Amino acid sequence: MMQILVTGGLGFIGSHTVVELQAKGFEVVVIDDCSNADEKVLDGIEKISGKKPIFEKLDLKDRGKVEDFFHRYPDVEGVIHFAASKAVGESVEKPLLYYENNIGTLVYILKELSKKNKASFIFSSSCTVYGQADKMPITEDAPVKEAESPYGNTKQIGEEIISDTCKVTPNLNAIALRYFNPMGAHPSAEIGELPIGVPQNLVPFITRTGVGLRKELSVFGDDYPTEDGTCIRDYIYVVDLAKAHVVALERLLASKNPKNYEVFNVGTGKGSSVLEVIGSFEKVYGKKLNYRIVGRRQGDITTAYADTTKANNELGWKSIYSLDDAMESAWKWEQKIRN
Ligand code: WQD
Repeated sequence: MMQILVTGGLGFIGSHTVVELQAKGFEVVVIDDCSNADEKVLDGIEKISGKKPIFEKLDLKDRGKVEDFFHRYPDVEGVIHFAASKAVGESVEKPLLYYENNIGTLVYILKELSKKNKASFIFSSSCTVYGQADKMPITEDAPVKEAESPYGNTKQIGEEIISDTCKVTPNLNAIALRYFNPMGAHPSAEIGELPIGVPQNLVPFITRTGVGLRKELSVFGDDYPTEDGTCIRDYIYVVDLAKAHVVALERLLASKNPKNYEVFNVGTGKGSSVLEVIGSFEKVYGKKLNYRIVGRRQGDITTAYADTTKANNELGWKSIYSLDDAMESAWKWEQKIRN
């Protein structure tokens, strides 16, 4: 039976995608090195989908281990590649860790897939490749700008590696999904975002402040050229994002892709400011969130939200959940993991 490999499948977006794949009847194999995820996530996946995926704890930086895996799993016909380091700030301090982990592993996996008669590959990319785009909403043909961090650079380089490989490997079919700002947790609260250590993103900071783990939220600047002065982003519910991966994979497996390398923005198409996100949280929180306006965070762009026309029309995919739906799930998850 055909198998789908999900690398980083115990992670935030990976685990939600495994759930959606299994719901569609796919046989899933998960690889994770558990450097930023806990093996217990498998229990959460099983509680939701009634099935525990095959799991291999494996360091994809070890080329021999990658070769051996594909030798032992000849039925893997598709790979969704989430495994990567993703902390923007950390990437500035430890660039080589990011280039080795995010690029090296990609090359090893593509080498193995290139040996197959037909292979489908979905790459976890990011809107970060656009930097501060000139025009909103952002379309896929917006220029890729000078990366603001080694992390962002690994996404740009990753896309180029895949594009170059697909040009000379007709049997390899790939899609890069450029995520905007993923947030929330599965409605069952069996899986969600579990940032090890200090979270990197706004929403976990908000919910941890709400649950009392943090005294107050720092809002990084309210002097941006936006309506309320705070930055605007496209916050997409992680379940919507997970479903986009399944649709993209099905497109490749069914050979519906006219080109063997495609790029899609995955967002809601709507921008929300930091203060609007706080407002959304306060609706589920039922009271005011404790926050303070502080100075701007280095490297932040002012505005980014997606033009999702291409994904809507060509993938037949559209986000269906609102910011409030996603925030409700984030808050339910935070309360669950803190009890
Ligand atoms: C969102 C907004 C902050 C925390 C990053 C990566 C991107 C992608 C998504 C992986 C900004 C403000 C945040 C806080 C705040 N990750 N903020 N107080 O920076 O848009 O994108 O995560 O692919 O690649 O760059 O997300 O959640 O860090 O910030 O005011 O405590 O919230 O200034 O305006 P970002 P974020």
